[in-house]
Amino acid sequence: MTRYSRITGTGSFLPPNRLTNAQLVADLAARGVETSDEWIVERTGISARHFAAPDVTCSDLALEASRRAIDAAGLQAADIDLIIVATSTPDMVFPSVACILQHKLGIAGCPAFDMQAVCSGFVYALSVADAMIKSGAASKALVVGAEVFSRLLDFSDRTTCVLFGDGAGAVVLEASQTPGILASDLHADGKYVGILCVPGHVSGGQVIGSPLLTMDGKAVFKLAVGVLESAARATLAKAELTEADIDWLIPHQANLRIMHSTAKKLKLPLEKLIVTVDQHGNTSAASIPLALDEAVRSGKVKKGDVVMLEGVGGGFTWGAVLLKY
Ligand code: UT7
Repeated sequence: MTRYSRITGTGSFLPPNRLTNAQLVADLAARGVETSDEWIVERTGISARHFAAPDVTCSDLALEASRRAIDAAGLQAADIDLIIVATSTPDMVFPSVACILQHKLGIAGCPAFDMQAVCSGFVYALSVADAMIKSGAASKALVVGAEVFSRLLDFSDRTTCVLFGDGAGAVVLEASQTPGILASDLHADGKYVGILCVPGHVSGGQVIGSPLLTMDGKAVFKLAVGVLESAARATLAKAELTEADIDWLIPHQANLRIMHSTAKKLKLPLEKLIVTVDQHGNTSAASIPLALDEAVRSGKVKKGDVVMLEGVGGGFTWGAVLLKY
């Protein structure tokens, strides 16, 4: 019998400190950085974001989201036999957030590793977990996207510091006799490393280069609208489905204009687009599982719905996962 993988539970967590545009604009003005609620809303669709308290780490956010996903799946932490955490903001250089999360969940023994594909990290991680389940290497995987992107922000750079937020989302992916994950399509092109990166690294006890995020927003925007369409089409073709079969589109939540353009290219009405960027900002690898969990808990995404997840970001990386929820 063919072995498939299927999402059986979702969970998410946002740190309690919610910052509206008005609050952020005032904070930035005090630092001599000029921006406005109007500019942020018009150019990005973002109205608010959450920032983690200084002593809260990526694994703390991942833990809360994971507990909720495991609970929603009707499982105990001890049932999990694979942990993959997609993140670019780990607690430490090493070991992985996945290992720290495993210990915080009170379990041991199962493989645990991080996935580094920046804002595409969650679709990469879900695709890898799907392959490991199909191969028989795992049966009950915990797949997490978790970020404290606020730690990477240069608050003197108005072109980036208004865009990002912190949070975590998680799913439990289980072996199934019926298909959940229908197809996936992953890509990268390393020649674009420089358009979105945190170039610094640790060496000889020092941080060499800038430890803050830098982005050529226009270049990222242009690439994103192209690859989000091509990845969606490639994934649909692999699953032998068409745009008309999509019930919900959940793209990476970076910019509402990019999301609208993707929906338009796929001829999807905006009612089928899940939007959380307005309330979360761009939470990088956490954005898709956060949006999926909100869509499931609000009753939008129901059992049997066909959902297209799409990631795009630093690397340059992009990809899509098409699934039957
Ligand atoms: O997560 C990975 C994926 N990341 C993305 O998808 C991000 C993709 N890029 C974007 O979302 C957009 O390019 C941005 C939101 C980053 C920028 O929007 P834009 O429409 O491309 O604006 P722009 O960079 O062309 O800037 C337009 C103007 C500039 O002023 P001048 O040169 O026209 O006088 C900027 O200096 O807006 C100015 N500006 C701002 N003004 C007020 C840039 N940032 C701000 C700001 N507040 N925060």
